[in-house]
Amino acid sequence: MQIKSAEFILSSCSNEKCPRTSCPEYAFIGRSNVGKSSLINMLVDKKNLAKTSSTPGKTQMINHFFINEGWYIADLPGYGYAKASKDQRSKWDKVSRGYLHKRQNLLTTFVLVDSRLVPQQIDIDFMEWMGEKEIPFIVVFTKTDKLNHSEISQNIEHYKTIMKDFWEELPRFIMTSAENKAGKEEILDFIEKTNKEYEEFKK
Ligand code: GTP
Ligand code: MG
Repeated sequence: MQIKSAEFILSSCSNEKCPRTSCPEYAFIGRSNVGKSSLINMLVDKKNLAKTSSTPGKTQMINHFFINEGWYIADLPGYGYAKASKDQRSKWDKVSRGYLHKRQNLLTTFVLVDSRLVPQQIDIDFMEWMGEKEIPFIVVFTKTDKLNHSEISQNIEHYKTIMKDFWEELPRFIMTSAENKAGKEEILDFIEKTNKEYEEFKK
C-alpha cells in the first residue's frame, strides 16, 4: 500500500475523547521507549509525524493519525516506565486499557517488544491480558537492525517457548526496524488486507 497522506488529528486523554469514527483503526503499544512512535513514522514515511524521544514516557496521551483519508493509527502511551510514579502508572492503565477495551473501530493492535532483550515479564503479562480480553494483536519486534539473524531468531524462539504455556495458538510475529525499514511492507500489506475485509463486512 502506498501512503499518500498522513496527518495528525488529535491527542486524547481517554477513549471518550478520541475521534468519533467508524473508519478502521490500528493501535501501537508497548513498553516505554520500545520504538512505537519511530515505527509509525517509518510506516508512513514521515520523520516527525509521531514525536520520538530518547527519554522514555514521551507519549502520554492517545495520539490519532489519519492515513490515506481512510483509516487511523493510534499511538498509545508506553507502559512499564521504571521511573513513573504509581499514580502515573494507574493513569496509564486507565487510559490505554480503557481505550483497548472500548474502542469499537479498533481492528488490530500491534504490541511492540524490543528484539534485543530476553522476554520481559511485563510484555508477557500484557499480551496475556490482551488474550483474556480477546483483543486481537500482532507481536512486533523492534530495533532488529541492532542484532544479527541468529540473535534475533534466538530471542524469538525464547518468546515462543514461554508463550506456548499460555497460548494454544501463538499470535503472528513481525520483525521490524525503523532504521532500515524492515517489516514495513508486511505491516502495510496486513493493514490493506484488513481494511478490505472490514469494508466487505460492513456491506
Ligand atoms: P515512548 O513514547 O516514550 O513510550 O517511546 P516510543 O516507544 O514511542 O519510542 P520512540 O519511537 O520515541 O523511540 C525510542 C528510542 O529508540 C529513540 O531514541 C529512537 O531513535 C530509538 N529507536 C526506535 N526505533 C528504532 C529502531 O528500529 N532501531 C534503532 N536502532 N533505534 C530505534
Ligand atoms: Mg512515543
